[in-house]
Amino acid sequence: MSCQTALPIVDSALHGNILVLTLNNPPVNALGVEIRRGLLAAIDGAGDNPAVEAILLVGAGRHFCGGADIREFGKTPQAPTLPEVVQRIEDSSKPVLATIQGVALGGGLEVALAAHYRLATGSARLGLPEVLLGLLPGAGGTQRLPRLIGARAALELMLSGRHLSAEEALGLGLVDRLGDSDDALAEGLAYMRQLLAQGATVRRTRDAQALNEHTAQRQAIDAARQQATQKSRGLLSPLHIIQAVEAALDQSFEDGLREERRLFLECLDSPQRAGLVHAFFAEREVLKAPETRAAAPRAIARVGVVGGGTMGAGIAVTALDAGLEVTMIERDQDALNRGRGNLEKVYDSLIDKGRLTQADKAATLARFSASTDYQDLAHADLVIEAVFEDMAAKLAVFAELDRVCKAGAVLASNTSYLDINAIADSVSRPADVIGLHFFSPANIMKLLEIVVPSKVASDVVATAFELAKKLRKVPVRAGVCDGFIGNRILAVYRQAADHMMEDGASPYQIDQVLRDFGFPMGPFQVTDLAGGDIGWATRQRKAATRDPRARYVQIADRLCERGWFGQKTGRGYYLYPEGPRSARQDPEVLAIIDTERARAGIAPRSFSNPEILRRYMAAMINEGANVVHEGIALRPLDVDITLIHGYGFPRYRGGPLKYADQYGLPQVLADIREFAEEDPLFWKASPLLVQLVERGENFDSLNHSH
Ligand code: 3HC
Ligand code: NAI
Repeated sequence: MSCQTALPIVDSALHGNILVLTLNNPPVNALGVEIRRGLLAAIDGAGDNPAVEAILLVGAGRHFCGGADIREFGKTPQAPTLPEVVQRIEDSSKPVLATIQGVALGGGLEVALAAHYRLATGSARLGLPEVLLGLLPGAGGTQRLPRLIGARAALELMLSGRHLSAEEALGLGLVDRLGDSDDALAEGLAYMRQLLAQGATVRRTRDAQALNEHTAQRQAIDAARQQATQKSRGLLSPLHIIQAVEAALDQSFEDGLREERRLFLECLDSPQRAGLVHAFFAEREVLKAPETRAAAPRAIARVGVVGGGTMGAGIAVTALDAGLEVTMIERDQDALNRGRGNLEKVYDSLIDKGRLTQADKAATLARFSASTDYQDLAHADLVIEAVFEDMAAKLAVFAELDRVCKAGAVLASNTSYLDINAIADSVSRPADVIGLHFFSPANIMKLLEIVVPSKVASDVVATAFELAKKLRKVPVRAGVCDGFIGNRILAVYRQAADHMMEDGASPYQIDQVLRDFGFPMGPFQVTDLAGGDIGWATRQRKAATRDPRARYVQIADRLCERGWFGQKTGRGYYLYPEGPRSARQDPEVLAIIDTERARAGIAPRSFSNPEILRRYMAAMINEGANVVHEGIALRPLDVDITLIHGYGFPRYRGGPLKYADQYGLPQVLADIREFAEEDPLFWKASPLLVQLVERGENFDSLNHSH
């Protein structure tokens, strides 16, 4: 090593005749403006420096580069742009090698693609995940990658956003060589010296030939377009990616780059990009609950699950899949057999689909045991109760847990609505009691509401967050109230849907509007999937405490009285003559709705699709605001993540409170006040919404206060 120059966060050091440029911007070396300036200056400097024969690009720390600095999107752009920097790298007259350790994602991979040679260490992961942020690779990736590996493979990578392993990247010709060790600098220097010894010169990706086989490339593009049109449901960036790759095939490199830039800027300006970037950061912010900073988690290796029904079995699968030991407790041998059966069904269906072998199943189940004796939970580090939604049943279970569990065991309930403070107060160790609210199917759904009762110890909350990480769930901290964050908000927007149905909209119209908005299913389809009997039981339980002045739509009760519980009974709001995929509208349901309208003295009116959306969203946003106002959710972004990961809210819209910011809070408030003229009891503007409008602020202004 002979000299060290100080460029802002691009470290530059000469190793013999090789200039090593190290991207140094922890934690992922994102390509913010200073890195871009530093890189440009360093590359230009290298060109002018006769002592430099070749350039090696590496990343400081664990990663090569996580791409463009996502925090800059939506702000005023600052020169130089990433495409300029990348072009300057490719144009270098001295050979450039990128050595990739950790990730090379997005702009990070585009930098590597502009280098003339690429080496990846064994730990490397490469990808162009821009599509997940509503973007396309905008620094030449859509033009260089297809030239290097062909349109089909390039499109697959860009449209899925998935990460490739180093071996896969080598197989595709995306990298030239794999390193023997994870020491990126040593590996890079050795390879560069070898290249120089062999007389290697610059080799520009723009000149690669993989697009030459024109017909096959065209077919790949057509096939991708057909699939994306069907699958991408209103998303802009997948179709833009395909258009950019088509430009790579049909146009010169320079024209293709211009087209890529135009399409990139369109994506950058779209609300979809804003929604997806919001979701990206919100998913990371939800991990930062105050207790996770205040306390270290307790160790969790052995988990007990009480109840082997829908939820208990799903939770057991999740825990087993995370490598934990699981003991299931049921009330008698028959129920236990059913519980084990529920659990095995999950693995058997994976075996049927060819995604698991019998040997895998056996290996997993070796960590599973089942019992009717609570004593078998004596060594559990954490127990999750998932018995019937009935306070007496839960209290009986917790009394047993209090009796048998070791000191320091975390005692959790999966209750959907019940008061966890009351459960905590029933045992001798309330500080160990917490809510872990999974969603059905628990082994698939990502959301985990961590419900924090008043007496819980901070390290128990921290343990719950650590558990979520192990189980690969998205945790959201929630306070105790009826329904916590998600089900409480659901109850309100679901009522808004029922009101519209009774006032004249058909359930089929309402479902269609919400599907068009981006939900995978409308609210009545969801009821049919979950089972109408669940809501019916809840309504019966709450009948005594319902405000007698509040509007109560009885249509769902009429269906349930007929035993029409949805998919599992072959009919609900829809008819299912041949299983779940055969849903049809049901004239008898429409007749029942008509009868109910007449009984309630309502003359039906028609609803436009935008009005349906306005009412549904206003109800959801208003209750979301209440949940934040009361401190049940820490921030608006916690509501957004709950609705995205537990209730099918379209991710590209960023969640209901992000959507509200985009729609405009004054307009949401005006909508609510308009609807309140008909039903002031249901439509009461949240105090938080009123305050924000008065202050001229939005929900996002509250996302950064913790
Ligand atoms: N820009 C800005 N911040 C970023 C970032 C980026 N590209 N990537 C990660 N970060 C931040 C995270 O927000 C987080 O911040 P925090 O500590 O304040 O919460 C921190 O870096 C660490 O991130 P993770 O917690 O996600 O760390 P992991 O080690 O789990 O994962 C990762 C690392 C795989 C790089 C992951 O962060 C990731 O997937 N990042 C996004 C990568 C990406 O999408 N790149 C494409 C950007 S768009 C682009 O390049 C456009 C170009 O084509 C023009
Ligand atoms: P379920 O009826 O499918 O299963 C309950 C199981 O608990 C049954 O197998 C029953 O035998 C067992 N059980 C009852 N009393 C018991 C006792 N004393 N000891 C041991 N086992 C006992 O119910 P499901 O749907 O699994 O719900 C369980 C809990 O999860 C409820 O609190 C529910 O509110 C909650 N929940 C349900 C969701 C869903 O979508 N089904 C979603 C999230 C939470």
